[in-house]
Amino acid sequence: MEILQVDAARPDETAIARAAETLRRGGLVAFPTETVYGLGGNALDAAAVEKIFQAKGRPARNPIIVHIGEMNAIPDLAEHWPETAQKLAARFWPGPLTLVVQKNNRIPDVVTAGGPTVALRMPAHPVALALLRHCKLPVAAPSANRSSALSPTRADHVLRSLGDRFDLLLDAGPTPGGLESTVLDMTQTPPRLLRPGLAALADLEAVVGSIEITRQLDGPVEPRRSPGMLNRHYAPNTPLTCVDGDGWPRVCELAGKALRVGWLTFTERDTLPGNVIAVVLPDQADSCATELYAVMHRLDQLGLDCILVDLPPPRPEWLAVRDRLLRACAGADLSGL
Ligand code: TXA
Ligand code: MG
Repeated sequence: MEILQVDAARPDETAIARAAETLRRGGLVAFPTETVYGLGGNALDAAAVEKIFQAKGRPARNPIIVHIGEMNAIPDLAEHWPETAQKLAARFWPGPLTLVVQKNNRIPDVVTAGGPTVALRMPAHPVALALLRHCKLPVAAPSANRSSALSPTRADHVLRSLGDRFDLLLDAGPTPGGLESTVLDMTQTPPRLLRPGLAALADLEAVVGSIEITRQLDGPVEPRRSPGMLNRHYAPNTPLTCVDGDGWPRVCELAGKALRVGWLTFTERDTLPGNVIAVVLPDQADSCATELYAVMHRLDQLGLDCILVDLPPPRPEWLAVRDRLLRACAGADLSGL
């Protein structure tokens, strides 16, 4: 496995050419996007995509986003490209928005988990765009982490999670957005939100009108009473639990049992028990998104007994951050601590 450092704003042409060549011959390349690092393979090469599933330990039923560098790639990938998709793409691409449309038969089944739709996205990161435009291939790329684990926002997160299960890593430093793209199902009217993400719902609705939210995206915080209600995903190895409001009483309770506690909070405290490590998160949703995974990766390295997270308020701008936190703690059980 090879690591190439590239400038995030003006990526070196030879590094991009080398990564493009790796993709063309069926290899896997980890690369930065404006959201998180992706693990890419040629989307038209079933064997390459199969390697992505293996590297991640990803269940075969979970389809992968196909990344494109030019709008003219769409007719080769989508059987039908709705006008609403065109409007959203025109406004938000390149950017953190993924559009699910009818796939055409050039796309191998392994990419779409055998389903009739394909998820398309044109990422905005200069390195991702340069790579896609250079290799002139659609690139299937999930987040570059083992299945269900925390998404990587830095090259060392990728390496820690995937080891050498791929061929080349383009290291362009931290990803600016820090949280994954918003995923919309465009095969229905109105479009349906499949995953909240960096593209804000209100901005999308301003372009295409109302968007349907059917799945419970922001449920009650009762991970212990209703395990399995949400799939545990985006999770650190350390047991993590979310608290609505101020987690301080719970932190004190756990710290009183001599446990080593990590605490993600929005309020600064002057004094803390010695066995508590607190990180104060930004109280702006976009800055919080940028830092969230990096903070969780860092705490996860410390071998703590548990991590407690104060949830941000249930307001629209916090939808994606709350979604990831609730999934990270789903099924985690601190009752024995
Ligand atoms: O920001 C992102 O979207 C990052 C970067 C690398 O682009 N990618 C990413 O991929 O988060 P992944 O595989 O970790 O998450 C993709 C999500 C999954 O929830 C998957 O189920 C969904 O998109 N998805 C992919 N193809 C789909 C399809 N055809 N229909 C419905 N959902 C799909
Ligand atoms: Mg992922």
